[in-house]
Amino acid sequence: MVTLKTTEQIAKMREAGKIVAAMLATTRDAVKPGATTADLDRIAAGVLARAGAKSSFLGYYGYPATICTSVNEQIVHGIPGKRKLREGDIIGIDAGAIVDGWHADAAITVPVGRVSAHAEKLIRVTREALARGIAAARIGNRLGDIGAAVQQYVEGEGFSIVRNYVGHGIGRAMHEEPQVPNYGLADLGRVIKEGLCIAIEPMVNVGGIATRVLDDSWTVVTEDGSLSAHFEHTVACLPDGPLVLTAVDWGSFEGGSAGAGEARAGRTGRTNGTTSSDAASKVPA
Ligand code: MF3
Ligand code: CO
Repeated sequence: MVTLKTTEQIAKMREAGKIVAAMLATTRDAVKPGATTADLDRIAAGVLARAGAKSSFLGYYGYPATICTSVNEQIVHGIPGKRKLREGDIIGIDAGAIVDGWHADAAITVPVGRVSAHAEKLIRVTREALARGIAAARIGNRLGDIGAAVQQYVEGEGFSIVRNYVGHGIGRAMHEEPQVPNYGLADLGRVIKEGLCIAIEPMVNVGGIATRVLDDSWTVVTEDGSLSAHFEHTVACLPDGPLVLTAVDWGSFEGGSAGAGEARAGRTGRTNGTTSSDAASKVPA
């Protein structure tokens, strides 16, 4: 069942989203050669504790950590541990927080020190793919419009989009209906209605789309060992357009570069809106 969220419920999710944004910003700053993925987990847990919030991930089907850290060919769900980051790695950091029972979920991929031009492009394309997916999350559009926007862009840049894992509805649970594929056909799928809250999360591979799960039963890797990147935001679909609940602030859309996608998504998330019809004004920042 798909539940549409009220303004008050979305405000709670925005509180959770701000904490997620802080977890990501703080862990991102700690990414450097020599840091371990467990260091990042500890830092994220500290941000959560100070905010008085809980991790969406810790204990989820037995998941043992606060965040997921996925390095290089790891696509998603990497478990933090002793692994030391090395110059040239890329790392996906995925975080979720619960405030008063309401969830928010977001992810970024960041370079460790200097990385290859190819890795840089992968990160840039995946971030922009998310921005384009968000821009398509407009009331009256269909879920297929999101998937099509993401897939067309990613494939046009010469990369592939993962099919085995998808975005999701989010609210009282981290994973709710509907599924939100990062691939598909425009004009198909469920119609987007006011109050729909979804996590959009393109996973983009340099090589093929095949995936495999490691023996830890969590870490998802590319079958061919090629690099993979992941960006995610939790988004509320509102009359004035998609509102990015996990943005650092309403004016800055961390998930997007200066593409058309960001411009549209950013407009709904501005801090300088003054009219009462501004979507941002409905959810306290
Ligand atoms: N953002 C991830 C997702 O939507 C959540 C991590 S799954 C967990 O799949 F088990 F690690 F919590
Ligand atoms: Co998610």
